Amino acid sequence: MPGVAAGREILSGWHRGQMLIRPETPADIRRIRRLTDTAFAPMPYADGNEGAALDQMRKDGDLTISLVAEENGEIIGHVAFSPAQISEASGDWYGLGPISVRADWQNQGIGTKLAHGGLERLRTRGAAGCVLIGRPAVYGPMGFTSEGNLSHKSLDPAIIQYIILNSTAPKGEVTFASALQETSP
Ligand SMILES: CC(C)(COP(=O)(O)OP(=O)(O)OC[C@H]1O[C@@H](n2cnc3c(N)ncnc32)[C@H](O)[C@@H]1OP(=O)(O)O)[C@@H](O)C(=O)NCCC(=O)NCCS
Repeated sequence: MPGVAAGREILSGWHRGQMLIRPETPADIRRIRRLTDTAFAPMPYADGNEGAALDQMRKDGDLTISLVAEENGEIIGHVAFSPAQISEASGDWYGLGPISVRADWQNQGIGTKLAHGGLERLRTRGAAGCVLIGRPAVYGPMGFTSEGNLSHKSLDPAIIQYIILNSTAPKGEVTFASALQETSP
C-alpha cells in the first residue's frame, strides 16, 4: 500500500497533484450523491437510482466502508462497500458498489485505487471476500473474476464477479444490502 499517515493513505506523485483516498465525512455526503448521480447518468445500464440507493444504504446502517478520492479539495471518486450474503459460502462477504469516478478523471486508475483501498480494509477486518455486479473489462483488471458459480436473480453469471480475501471460491445466490437488492434487475 502507498504511504499511510494518520490513518490516511496519501497517494503521492499522482497525475495532477496529490490524491487522497479517505473515508467519507458528513461534509462529503451531498457531493458524493451528486458525483454518483452524474457519473451513472449517461450509462445505458444505469437505472438512475444509484445515488438514492447509496443514501438508503447509509440510513440502513449498511454502508460498511465509504471512501472518497479527493484531489485539491474536490471529490472526484467514491466507492461503497456493504454486507452481502452468498447462499453456499461461509464467512463475511461484502458487496462493492456503487462506484463512481468523475468523467474527466476516468480511465486513470482512480476506480482501481478506490476499490483496492476498500478491499485492503475488508481484508484487515477478516472479510471472506467481496462480490459485485459489473463489466469484466472494468473489474477484471482490479482483480475480480467469475467462473459462473455465482448467481443474482436472472442476471448473466459472467457479470457476478468476486475477489477472495480470506476464503475459498464462493458458490451460490448472492443477496446484496436491501437498498441495492431492490434496485438490481
Ligand atoms: C467504472 C468506473 C468507476 C471505473 O473507474 P476508473 O477510474 O475509470 O477505472 P480505472 O481507470 O481504475 O480502470 C480500471 C479498468 O477498467 C477499464 N475501464 C474503465 N472504464 C471502462 C469502460 N468504459 N469500458 C471498458 N473498460 C473500462 C480500464 O481500462 C481499466 O483496465 P486496464 O487496467 O486493463 O486498462 C468509472 O468509469 C465510472 O465512474 N463510470 C461511471 C459509473 C459506473 O458505470 N460505475 C460502475 C457501474 S458497474
